[in-house]
Amino acid sequence: MEGKKNKGFVYILLCFILSDVAPGLLRQADGGPRSFEIDYANDRFLKDGLPFRYVSGSIHYFRVPASLWADRLGKLRMAGFNAVQTVVEWSSHEPEPGVFDFAGNHDLEGFIKTAQEQDLLVILRVGPFICAERDMGGLPYWLLRLHPNIRLRTSDPNEGYLTHVDAWLSQVLLPKIKPLLYENGGPVIMVQVENEYGSSSNCDFKYTTHLREVLRQHLGPSLVLFTVDSTGSSNLKCGKIQEVYATVDFGLGTDPKMMFEQQRLFEPRGPLVNSEFYPGWIDHWGEPHHKTNTQELASGLDAILALNASVNMYMFHGGTSFGFTAGSNVGGTFQSCPTSYDYDAPVSEAGDPTEKYHAVREVISKYLVLPPGPVPPVPQKAEYGKIEVMALGSVMQLLPLLQGVTQPWPLTFEQLQVSNGLVVYHTVLSIRVPDPARLSLYDIHDRGYVFVNERYVGVVSREQRLYDLAVSALPGDSIHIIVESLGRVSVGPKLNDFKGLTTNVTINNHELEGWTMTPLPLTNTTRLHHVLQRLRQTLTLSPLLGTQQGGMTFYSGTFTVPSEESHPLDSFLRLDGWSKGVAWVNDLCLGRYWPEVGPQVTLYVPRVVLRQGTNTITLLELEKSPCTTSKSACRVSLVDTHQVDGPTPN
Ligand SMILES: *[C@@H]1O[C@H](CO)[C@@H](O)[C@H](O)[C@H]1NC(C)=O
Ligand SMILES: *[C@@H]1O[C@H](CO)[C@@H](O)[C@H](O)[C@H]1NC(C)=O
Ligand SMILES: *[C@@H]1O[C@H](CO)[C@@H](O)[C@H](O)[C@H]1NC(C)=O
Repeated sequence: MEGKKNKGFVYILLCFILSDVAPGLLRQADGGPRSFEIDYANDRFLKDGLPFRYVSGSIHYFRVPASLWADRLGKLRMAGFNAVQTVVEWSSHEPEPGVFDFAGNHDLEGFIKTAQEQDLLVILRVGPFICAERDMGGLPYWLLRLHPNIRLRTSDPNEGYLTHVDAWLSQVLLPKIKPLLYENGGPVIMVQVENEYGSSSNCDFKYTTHLREVLRQHLGPSLVLFTVDSTGSSNLKCGKIQEVYATVDFGLGTDPKMMFEQQRLFEPRGPLVNSEFYPGWIDHWGEPHHKTNTQELASGLDAILALNASVNMYMFHGGTSFGFTAGSNVGGTFQSCPTSYDYDAPVSEAGDPTEKYHAVREVISKYLVLPPGPVPPVPQKAEYGKIEVMALGSVMQLLPLLQGVTQPWPLTFEQLQVSNGLVVYHTVLSIRVPDPARLSLYDIHDRGYVFVNERYVGVVSREQRLYDLAVSALPGDSIHIIVESLGRVSVGPKLNDFKGLTTNVTINNHELEGWTMTPLPLTNTTRLHHVLQRLRQTLTLSPLLGTQQGGMTFYSGTFTVPSEESHPLDSFLRLDGWSKGVAWVNDLCLGRYWPEVGPQVTLYVPRVVLRQGTNTITLLELEKSPCTTSKSACRVSLVDTHQVDGPTPN
């Protein structure tokens, strides 16, 4: 998704497999071939030769645990929708070059087949760039490591972008998609080329026509390819690709007729399509949760459908950016996206049909035949209560158990082969400096926690553009800077968002030299649990070395889920008194928490990660815990209500 929102000075770019049958010859039950095409003369789609329009909703497979796909897709179908749209995230399928992951939550083919089982067609947005408020817009971070000067989303032959894109699409992704196309017996009716390319400012037709050719070569001549751009002729001008059908996106508060006139400038004939109709909007940490009015959404959808248009609601169900997958935006300021991708959508983050669900279903029923059966109920939630946690040890105490890299000058996360999380940068001051001295961490990406002789002295922040700290230090003093990534920029000209210390650190203009950099093993939960186990064994009675307030410390605790048939149920993690960090339940990294700035207060704990009996919770608190006030305060709780619209700073 991508779009514009003016908020003061802030400008945000948001941004069946039948192998023995020859393709194209598959027949429907009545004997005709399966086909999906554009009927230009009559401004509509034809499916199996009959007039067709889709009413689709976006669900991103990677934002929903795989065992809940059928549930969410079933809810989409029961609301009257006849298609699902998803983006395909290259970075999660190829986390390191040549290392592929199509298992569990990344089982794209499984998701597409589940959609078909739920009687839904599938519209795919294969990118390779997808935006979607994901880390680096879904592009793999390692592109930055292999090619520091890479020109992403261009045809630039010097820096290898297209070579990697071609290998991914031609050798890996498209061969998986081909048997799932509608004409081959699968549910996939359309595939998008790039994503809202017109707003990228690259306007590189050599790139987009190349992508078109790769898709044509692997997916055949009859598949409907499309582009999506936000309205505004400049967007469509660079976004439109010859021989690819141009569609638009727009939300509430606009006149659909006028918006579709923009599409008509580029597609004089053919079906009207809004590929992203927004029921809500993107959230950022520290900014109030975005909500829209149900009635307005219903009448907005009605107005689009009354024009005989096809539409995709972005999002129908937003889900969760688990782990470290959330991205960020940079317009006037750098703003990172929370873990929840609720999107004020018809189905909430936890999978509940909302008021909007019923309103939208009502509207769709005027145009399409609803499937028989009742509206799915709201699943019960559990309050598993207060959980005592205990400090396991601090980040400083973990360092001796980890492998560091020593270099004269700071390296970025990418150079260190770290996709995300935190890296500890350490140096020893070798010169005399005034007291206090100005420690400058200009352009840190994104947040740095500074320690002198293992005592916490303060934080620097890209979001707040606060890069300097006053420090008192003597020659021989130890300086640690623990740098946190808040997620790579997901769209726009600043997509090459290297993390960590991206420039030299100075103290009173003197460049600090001689760094040891130690990545924390946060993105691999198995490895993290191993390391924390060893930490527990090495630390018996030594005092904690985190912040004075209990930050930069790992905590863990256990809780019990009743051994009754109805359990486990969905729940939400509430962290009153905690500040900012990352939480894990069993083997799932729930994501980042930051209740202090909101708007997200609780984290969604899907029932499928819980088990009857004992479960574990692990926290890495970066700033301060409630444990310093009293031992009994050292706890979190599992509650039965989600809060994604908490208070935010003024
Ligand atoms: C929608 O399609 C129907 C059936 O083809 C047609 O009668 C009607 O005029 C169309 N409405 C609009 C607004 O184009
Ligand atoms: C840091 O300074 C050294 C010496 O001036 C220079 O070689 C190096 O490129 C600088 N690093 C960055 C990231 O600017
Ligand atoms: C995660 O860590 C475990 C234990 O160190 C290792 O065996 C596994 O290969 C790692 N997984 C990935 C995806 O790197």
